[in-house]
Amino acid sequence: MKRKAIVTGAYGAIGKAIAKGIAGYGLDVVLVGRDEGKLQRAITDIRKLLPDAELGYAAIDLSRENRIREFSEAWEGSLQVLVNNAATCPRARTETPEGIEMQWATNVLGYYWMIRYLSPHMKKQKDARIVNVASYWAGGLNFSDLEFKTRYYDNDEAYRQSKQANRMLSAGFATRLKVDGIAVNACHPGDVVSKVSSDLGYGGSETPEQGADTPVWLATSGEVENQTGHYYERREKRHCSFMSDTRGVERLLEVCEGY
Ligand SMILES: NC(=O)c1ccc[n+]([C@@H]2O[C@H](COP(=O)([O-])OP(=O)(O)OC[C@H]3O[C@@H](n4cnc5c(N)ncnc54)[C@H](OP(=O)(O)O)[C@@H]3O)[C@@H](O)[C@H]2O)c1
Repeated sequence: MKRKAIVTGAYGAIGKAIAKGIAGYGLDVVLVGRDEGKLQRAITDIRKLLPDAELGYAAIDLSRENRIREFSEAWEGSLQVLVNNAATCPRARTETPEGIEMQWATNVLGYYWMIRYLSPHMKKQKDARIVNVASYWAGGLNFSDLEFKTRYYDNDEAYRQSKQANRMLSAGFATRLKVDGIAVNACHPGDVVSKVSSDLGYGGSETPEQGADTPVWLATSGEVENQTGHYYERREKRHCSFMSDTRGVERLLEVCEGY
């Protein structure tokens, strides 16, 4: 039976390269994003290089729990690999229709909901893996004002706290999902020119394929089989103090659960 993977943010700079990279290892890949036309174009692009790739797509707004739950309920069969990669970094504070600050909803709750709702399809699968694309640019998680309701919204600060949360969620879910045989790891991808990097005021010196290298490796390589609860940069395991803060990790999971 062929292994199935989901990649979110899959027409973005790094996401498309991740989807292509994983498809290159022979997995069926479902590309997830919110714009159907862009998802279809990404598939066309990947097929030019990998004509035999089995590719599908799902147009979902990942800032919205209901959309993710519906997607999960409609999912048929098993799932072996989930790569949470989608992110946003609007320069002005915006909210979802449910009134949740957009970076918190997309970059953090989106990852949380994808894992919560999709991981049941991954239970007891051989070598099931979740990869959370985070960043080295991380920190400043402020539990007293996660959505910038009382402090001035700075998109860089909101982004950094969301990427810290991505790493912490990886540690929390690694512990929770161990019993189901699902590995969960986080990584920095690479520095690539993209909408996110531009909105942060940065450029990027690497190609999308270089940026996708560590996430694809974590999703597919035998070298990391059975590794879980770690943070990686350039295929190397790095100590992450956010992930070793077990009380903070539990608190974050509880906060996400409460939405
Ligand atoms: N680029 C870098 O140098 C760098 C460095 C460190 C970490 N990262 C991480 O790498 C990942 C990929 O980022 P990127 O640089 O490739 O940025 P990107 O090109 O802007 O890609 C982000 C993707 O996420 C999608 N997305 C945003 N909000 C969404 C929503 N509500 N629902 C569904 N999809 C949504 C975007 O779609 P739309 O176009 O429709 O918004 C886009 O496809 C992110 O997690 C980022 O934090 C990037």
